[in-house]
Amino acid sequence: MHIPAITGTGVFTPQNTISNAELVVAFNAYADKFNAAHKDQIAAGEIQEKPHSSEDFIFKASGIEQRYVVDKEGILNPDMMHPMLPQRSDDDPSLMAEMALDAAQKALAQAGKTAADVDAVICAASNLERAYPAVAIEIQDLLGINGFAFDMNVACSSATFGIRAAADMIRSGSIKSALVVNPEICSAHLEWRDRDCHFIFGDVATATLIERAENASGPYFEIKSTRCATDFSNNIRNNNGFLRRSRPDGTADRRDMQFMQNGRKVFKEVLPMVSTHIADHMSDEGVQASDLKRLWLHQANKSMNDFIGKKVLGRSPEAGEQPNILQDYANTSSAGSIIAFSKYSDDLNDGDVGLICSFGAGYSVGSVIVERHD
Ligand code: COA
Repeated sequence: MHIPAITGTGVFTPQNTISNAELVVAFNAYADKFNAAHKDQIAAGEIQEKPHSSEDFIFKASGIEQRYVVDKEGILNPDMMHPMLPQRSDDDPSLMAEMALDAAQKALAQAGKTAADVDAVICAASNLERAYPAVAIEIQDLLGINGFAFDMNVACSSATFGIRAAADMIRSGSIKSALVVNPEICSAHLEWRDRDCHFIFGDVATATLIERAENASGPYFEIKSTRCATDFSNNIRNNNGFLRRSRPDGTADRRDMQFMQNGRKVFKEVLPMVSTHIADHMSDEGVQASDLKRLWLHQANKSMNDFIGKKVLGRSPEAGEQPNILQDYANTSSAGSIIAFSKYSDDLNDGDVGLICSFGAGYSVGSVIVERHD
């Protein structure tokens, strides 16, 4: 048996940001146009008027202040309301592969390793831009990695489930190392025309290099233990898929072909699931709340993170104990907890213990207990 360790992480951040103010101006212009175009149906009670969005609501309900996106113009155009991403030739790198490549190169550089040191690539993300060939294999090819690669999707929990898969393979000895990459183009599956959710997501890519601890070239985080759990729910759902064309109205502009959620129910049901999951994981591994130096949580909603942090630690987290990045990045699905880990883990000391946790659609929850070694 070998000890798996996180030896490097990397984050690719798109150049464009959209502030809440910009987002609300665009949405309200869209809503006004919609209401004007459907004046008669609205007056007849056949369809509902689209109410305005508000900056104040967005910040208070979520804690989000801005989001990074690959394309800003299409999203903010009231006649479009989605990103415009040019079609690429099959001979050019796909967008997900390009974003993941940047993050992966940063993770390799941080670990002081090259492609020759990597045996496998797992592309773990909420959405995959094509059915096949696997995006992971394209990333493997772009990096010049031997071995194998595969895609997997557990929505917002994809990164921790991917880390578990890689850690288990390293533990068993079947591979020496793996890159887990999480390119998330959330702007392309978000319904920007729905004020209930138009503020939620942003785009990013993260990468985590996992190796045998004995092969680490510098400081690393030993993966002490991983735990995954799922429990079916329709409260976060997207019906887009390969059967779309075969359904009578499948190719129509249908609301359910983008991200949909019952936010209140998600809030109520996921919080106890996650709090209990983390408490059980820690207790089974003999980790006390007082042992935890840091919590890197999924980045969906500030109130949710405040609640989980308080439950896990048994008190309100001190500044820096449970870092949030959602105010800058919004919800970046599986990448959120890895961005937090990547940006807020360097200052930990030898022997410090922390916990990465992601959760979301499925429902799904994944936790990783790590210990710093200098
Ligand atoms: N601007 C102004 N008002 C808005 C609005 C907006 N953009 N969006 C919704 N509202 C209104 C609603 O219509 C509702 O009005 P009503 O009371 O008259 O019916 C009111 O504000 C409250 O809306 P609600 O959706 O109940 O807000 P909320 O406090 O539950 O916050 C979320 C919404 C989505 C931020 C919150 O439910 C959440 O974060 N849930 C979990 C999300 C999550 O983690 N999902 C995982 C995804 S991977």
